Amino acid sequence: MGSRVARLAKPRIAKMTTETGCTKQAKIQRVDSFLIRLHEKARCEIYPRTTDVKRVKVEDKYVKWAVDYPDYSPVVYTSEGVLKGPVWADPDLLTTEANLKWNALDGKVSRISHMGSYEIGKDKLPRNPIGRTGLKGRGCLGRWGPNHAADPIVTRWRRDEDDKKVKGEDGKNVLQFVAVQRRDNHQWAIPGGMVDPGEVITQTLKREFGEEAMNSLEKTEAEREDIEKAINELFDHGTNVYSGYVDDPRNTDNSWMETVALNFHDESGSGVSQIHLHAGDDAVGVKWMDLTSKLEIYASHKDFLQEVARKLQASW
Ligand code: BGC
Repeated sequence: MGSRVARLAKPRIAKMTTETGCTKQAKIQRVDSFLIRLHEKARCEIYPRTTDVKRVKVEDKYVKWAVDYPDYSPVVYTSEGVLKGPVWADPDLLTTEANLKWNALDGKVSRISHMGSYEIGKDKLPRNPIGRTGLKGRGCLGRWGPNHAADPIVTRWRRDEDDKKVKGEDGKNVLQFVAVQRRDNHQWAIPGGMVDPGEVITQTLKREFGEEAMNSLEKTEAEREDIEKAINELFDHGTNVYSGYVDDPRNTDNSWMETVALNFHDESGSGVSQIHLHAGDDAVGVKWMDLTSKLEIYASHKDFLQEVARKLQASW
């Protein structure tokens, strides 16, 4: 594995199941301990959605907070949009006092990390559980500490004209997943989204899939009802793929993305696979994409897909 890979503790699946509000039928599988490399995207030089905010370079050996780095002087940045204080953002702790409840449910906002308890630094700010990023503040993220998202991985087997499963170079059957092209950076991704305060994960998954992959926001009432029915059936049976930190370019020393990724697999090809896909909301494109090790997609999404391929013994 090399020295740049840290093995994390097993995620707390039993707890997550209730937190995520999965239905009883949901087939909850044990998630194998996931490998998180020292974050790389969270150390990208130019901060996303800016042209001139440059992170201070953090070498691999200095990423971990436990390693002394007395000269560390990260650039401080929180976007104007976040500082304006929209509903989805916390108060700015660099300029005002506020009593936020770390590592706890704070009203409806979950400040609980899937990674276990995070530290609060001497500056009284939460510390990124993977380590330094070269940037202090919240960047364009609204919350101090974890910012929670959810990712629905909808899969089917790739089939030829005779409805036979197609095999990959490794002789295993090829899986496909519903991918959307993000409006913000045009990268292909899983159609995930942010969890609203007080919302259970299944609600987020259904909403995001409906809006981004089926364009439910621009359909008639009757069409919306059909979409809702198909999504409800599909999202009844999910298996956990991952819950935890995401190596996302928006992460900072004090704010970071976490996600819960679930797989909804249409084994027979007669369910979801028949649903008409139509990009909407934050997505400009949508398609069934083959799972392969050559995929180039957003944030840690490739790791999630590799895990799905492993679980379903699919080609990779
Ligand atoms: C995206 C999710 C992604 C998460 C972390 C969210 O904005 O919608 O798909 O997993 O960020 O990168």
